[in-house]
Amino acid sequence: RTSCAKGASTAPTTGSMLHTSVKASEMSKKASETLTPSQTPGRSMYLSNRGNSIRQQQGILQEGFVQYARDQYDDAHNPDGILNVGTSENKLCYDLLHKRLTKPDMLHVDPALLQYSDWRGHLFLREEVAKFLTHYCCSPKPLKADNVVVMNGCGSLLSCIAAVICDPKDAILIPTPFYGAITEDLQLYSDVRLFHVPLDCEAGGKDSRLFNLTVEKLEESLKKAKQEGIIIRAVILINPHNPLAEVYTLKEMIGFLEFAKRYELHVIVDELYMLTVFDESVTFHSVLSADSLPDPQRTHVVWGLSKDFAMAGFRIGTLYTENSHLVEAVAQLGSFHGVSGTTQHQVAQLLRDREWINEEFLPENRCRLKAAHSYVTGELRSMGIPYLHWPATLFVWADLRKYIRESSFERELSLWRCFLRHKVLLSCGQAFSCSTPGWFRFVFANQDHHLKLGQCVTRTLHTLSGLTQLFRYCLS
Ligand SMILES: Cc1ncc(COP(=O)(O)O)c(C=O)c1O
Repeated sequence: RTSCAKGASTAPTTGSMLHTSVKASEMSKKASETLTPSQTPGRSMYLSNRGNSIRQQQGILQEGFVQYARDQYDDAHNPDGILNVGTSENKLCYDLLHKRLTKPDMLHVDPALLQYSDWRGHLFLREEVAKFLTHYCCSPKPLKADNVVVMNGCGSLLSCIAAVICDPKDAILIPTPFYGAITEDLQLYSDVRLFHVPLDCEAGGKDSRLFNLTVEKLEESLKKAKQEGIIIRAVILINPHNPLAEVYTLKEMIGFLEFAKRYELHVIVDELYMLTVFDESVTFHSVLSADSLPDPQRTHVVWGLSKDFAMAGFRIGTLYTENSHLVEAVAQLGSFHGVSGTTQHQVAQLLRDREWINEEFLPENRCRLKAAHSYVTGELRSMGIPYLHWPATLFVWADLRKYIRESSFERELSLWRCFLRHKVLLSCGQAFSCSTPGWFRFVFANQDHHLKLGQCVTRTLHTLSGLTQLFRYCLS
């Protein structure tokens, strides 16, 4: 990796602005407490305390998405609508998927598909997932169908895993920033909390790169949690990372897994973006490729179709774990998170079609992602906006600190709202519990050709370039 890839591509601006790190609370808060107090719905007399707390848990991502749903950009019908650069979806490959998913082999019905299935998923699908992961994760030994659970998305799996390895109010360590919806995945049903491991956005001291995750930081946070009387049961590691897009090496991952083993912590390894790496300079290594895992009974790997196959709407998530007790417990919850038989058939057909995956889908998807990434990062560079340069995932983590007058999450939120008023939906750092205000995530895979993507970025950057003038009106 080049040094550029491990830090911001351009040195972060310092200037005269305040860039002191404002530490977010280490324990996850309700998003509504931190983000949108004025818009939190009031208490409903029809709901229980739990129901009210679930209803009120509306974070910034929802607020933006609601507005977007009402006023979506559409080339022909709503050219002045909101451009969505905030949702992590790959919309570059609809043509390829449509062609494959409408082939005759996809249309299949037999009695078993119409009946209740094993709540872990049909055996034919779990076998296919095991073969798929063995191959694409480069597992040294064949992975087993009995260790696979299939559910309606990785969000459901994270929720179920947390429910069975934690008791209410227990906590799981997670480095920040992180994919924000995990907070709700863990909290809504199971009342499991996240304990943050804050990563610093400045390189310096022992940190050779920005947002550098180290075993020392994990140790430090674990110690802090213990001092506060919080029971930590697990650690969540996302690789490739959302929102940093960073790809951790196998050596780094094994170091984190060894840390977890020392304290008998479970590790949930989220590898949802494992095939979304689009430059030869970076190679992703699944933890399943290791000759041996430090603590196989406490290592649980999740992967799904939402990102790597650009099929978030299919709702497919898979879990691989050697822990049969965990599989049994999670399977008990599977009846709430099942996938229809016909969809399971389609997914199995897709995963076994290696020729389509290797010869058509993956190369073309990577090529389109690379072009889109290069376009957006080129635009960011031309605007002098620093960003983390990792050729992976569907987004770029960019440093807009120079556009907020002071380092506060209120200012960051004002900037986010300012974008929304200018019809650009982004995700801001506080939605990912970033400890320093001013970082934003740009999804670059959200238009199917460059013209639309170009419009999207141009409008975003146009807004940015006008921000100095807008400060007076928007941010005062
Ligand atoms: C890192 C990560 N984990 C889990 C999820 C949830 O994915 P799914 O669509 O499979 O529920 C997402 C979705 O953005 C994600 O980015």
